[in-house]
Parts: sequence; structure tokens; C-alpha cells
Amino acid sequence: MTTNPTLVSGTIAAAPQAQPLDVTPSPLALLLLGRGSDPDSERGVDCPGVLPPASDPTLTERAAAARAALGDRLFILGHHYQRDEVIAFADVTGDSFKLAQQAAARPQAEFIVFCGVHFMAESADILTAPHQQVVLPDLAAGCSMADMATAEQVEQAWEDLIEAGAAEDTVPVSYMNSSAAIKAFTGRHDGTICTSSNARRALDWAFGPQRGGRRVLFLPDQHLGRNTAIGELGMTEDDCVVYNPYRPMGGLTPQQLRDAKMILWKGHCSVHGRFTRECVDEVRARIPGVTVLVHPECRREVVTGADLVGSTEYIIRTVAEAPAGTAFAIGTELNLVRRLANRHPDKNIVFLDRTVCYCSTMNRIDMPHLVWALESLVRGEPVNRISVPPEVATYARKALDQMLALP
Ligand code: 13P
Ligand code: SF4
Repeated sequence: MTTNPTLVSGTIAAAPQAQPLDVTPSPLALLLLGRGSDPDSERGVDCPGVLPPASDPTLTERAAAARAALGDRLFILGHHYQRDEVIAFADVTGDSFKLAQQAAARPQAEFIVFCGVHFMAESADILTAPHQQVVLPDLAAGCSMADMATAEQVEQAWEDLIEAGAAEDTVPVSYMNSSAAIKAFTGRHDGTICTSSNARRALDWAFGPQRGGRRVLFLPDQHLGRNTAIGELGMTEDDCVVYNPYRPMGGLTPQQLRDAKMILWKGHCSVHGRFTRECVDEVRARIPGVTVLVHPECRREVVTGADLVGSTEYIIRTVAEAPAGTAFAIGTELNLVRRLANRHPDKNIVFLDRTVCYCSTMNRIDMPHLVWALESLVRGEPVNRISVPPEVATYARKALDQMLALP
């Protein structure tokens, strides 16, 4: 066990297909995610069709029957934050890096049903062959972090870097949790994608002899960027600046842009952003000897207060390998933490925060949507296909391939 936090870590997009807005203005508009589209959002559009009711007691049998009917034509990927009843149908579960690898390694599967969020399905589409169809059971399963960097904002940031005389030796490194358009931007500027399991290797590559960058533009999660740069590469806070896309020149001077080693985009995960240093202190007082284990999307003060930090795959492995009786307070999405607690009754596993912390968009993939998507495939009428336009996919693939080739 380390006392100093060590970052041990663990793909792609299509512009959402534009469909006519069909949302009737409502005071409950926020509840209508997925009904209509926002052109500035990474998230998808309307879910056409009639979903089976959530109360249907045969949903599990229906999903199993559809899956059996499709046989080897179907491959189901499930991210660790998915609900229990959905993840039970996944052929492979994983963090976003493993799922990108797995999607790329299944050329025989005609249909890839992605139980995860939109940017992951986009990445799968980019990494798979044209004859393969990637389906996201609910197009409203987006990611609020990915939405925090739009293509226009990032192009503007690059213009700012050019104006400051800092673009030439800047390497874009974009977190998987970004739209296909951002990945394409990254590929066009000879950068790389990273995930929480290879962010250190991505930065080593960007600053190393192969790429030779003097600074990195890290998109869109400031916390993963900062935690990796400071916690893994030994940089300091002074090496990092935060670019705010809502302020002229990101709220920075040309000199600040030139002097920075890490230009961190002002984005964050709304789920991991909820954990605070107080949560860490409170759990240590409550459970003596507890090991605090967090995801690198958490804020810096949470990571420095933790014992261990790493991707979802790392969190799962760490808990599995610990001796019986170990106490863990885990700072990541609640579906995963609850599953780990159920899977390891010999260990004392608690959620780092006292309040509930699901990822609302991951949770949008539920049994009605899964059954609806699978039965549509059986009928030969695929729904919710994620298809990245070729002009975006080409450069996004370049950045994804660079990630998959990281030493
Ligand atoms: P990983 O599964 O790559 O750790 O990512 C966590 C996450 O927030 C995915 O949206
Ligand atoms: Fe996005 Fe955070 Fe949800 Fe992951 S957990 S999909 S980063 S909002």
C-alpha cells in the first residue's frame, strides 16, 4: 500500500445525427433528456420507437431471447458504471480503454451494442470496420464532461495559442471522454487520446523525444490532467494554467499561455467532482485504517488525501487483490462501488461520500432500452446507430490509434 497517491491508470465521436426537435416546451424540460437534440451537445438525439414498460416482468427473458437469436452476430460491451441488470448482459466489461481495445478486436461482430455513454460508442464506431454497426441503447446517454468542450471552443483556444505564439510546440492530449470532433481536432494537430489508465504514458509521449512538445493542451478534464502532471510527472501547480472557454483568451495572458507546461481545459466530471477533502477526512475518522481509493477525475485535494488513485479497472483489481478484512472507501461512481461491495462481502467497502452519486447518463441505459435495441436488431431494423462522419472519423482514428500505440 502506498501512502503517496500513485496514479495507476486505464476513443471517439460522431456528430450527433441532426433530427428535428420535437420537444414541447415544458417546465420539466430537464427531464426530457433524449427527446430532441442540442447541436452543442455531445449527447445524442431522440429515441424513436416504443419502449417496453419498465414494469414488464419479462424484460430479462426478452433480452436473453434476443441475444440468443443474434448469436455471434452480436457483441455487447458494458462499462463498469452500468446498472447491475444491464451489465449482466455484457460479453465484456471494462474501463474505457479496455472497451476501446475490445471493440477494435471484434471484426466478426456485425452489431456492437454499447452499454456505456455516447463518446464510447463513437469511439467504438471509429475503431470498427464499416460493415459493423454500433448501437447505443439510449442516445441520451451522453457525458456532461464531454459537453464541456465543444469543437468551436477548442478551435478558438487553438487560435488563441497561435496568437500567443504558443501553438507550434503545444501537443493536444484529449481524454477519451470527449466528442469525436474533439478527437479529430487532436488527430489533426498530431496529438493523442488518453484514458485514465494511460494518461501518464500519453504525457510522457507528448513531452518525450518522439513528439517533443513543450506544453500540452489537456482536454477536457482539468483534474485528470492536473493529477497526472503533478502526481505522476512531478510538475507543480505553477506549471499548470486553466483555460476557461467562456473568457477571452481563456482568461489568460499570452505570456501565461507560453510559460505553461500544462494548459488544462476548464472541464470536470459532475460525478467525481462531488467528492471533497472533507469526505476523505470524515471517512478516516469513522473507519480507522481505511484505505481511500479514488478515480483520477477527482479534485486534486481529494487525490492527495487518498491512499490510492487509478482507473475503474485499477480500482476493481486493487479491491480483488486485497486481503480479507481490508476496509476501502471508494471515490467513484456508485453502481461500481455497490457491485464491488456485493462481490467482496469479506471486505468492508463503503462509498466515499455520504450522499448518492450515480452518473445519471450512464444510468440511462436500462432494461427497457436494452430490450428495445436488441429486439430491433432481431427484426432487422437497427435503432440508435452511432455513425461518425468519415471526415471526422479519419482524424479521430489517427488520435485513437496513437493512444493504442502508446509505449
Ligand atoms: P474509466 O472507466 O476509463 O476509468 O473512466 C471513468 C469514466 O468516468 C468513464 O466515463
Ligand atoms: Fe461523464 Fe463523469 Fe458520467 Fe463518466 S462518470 S460518463 S466522466 S459524467
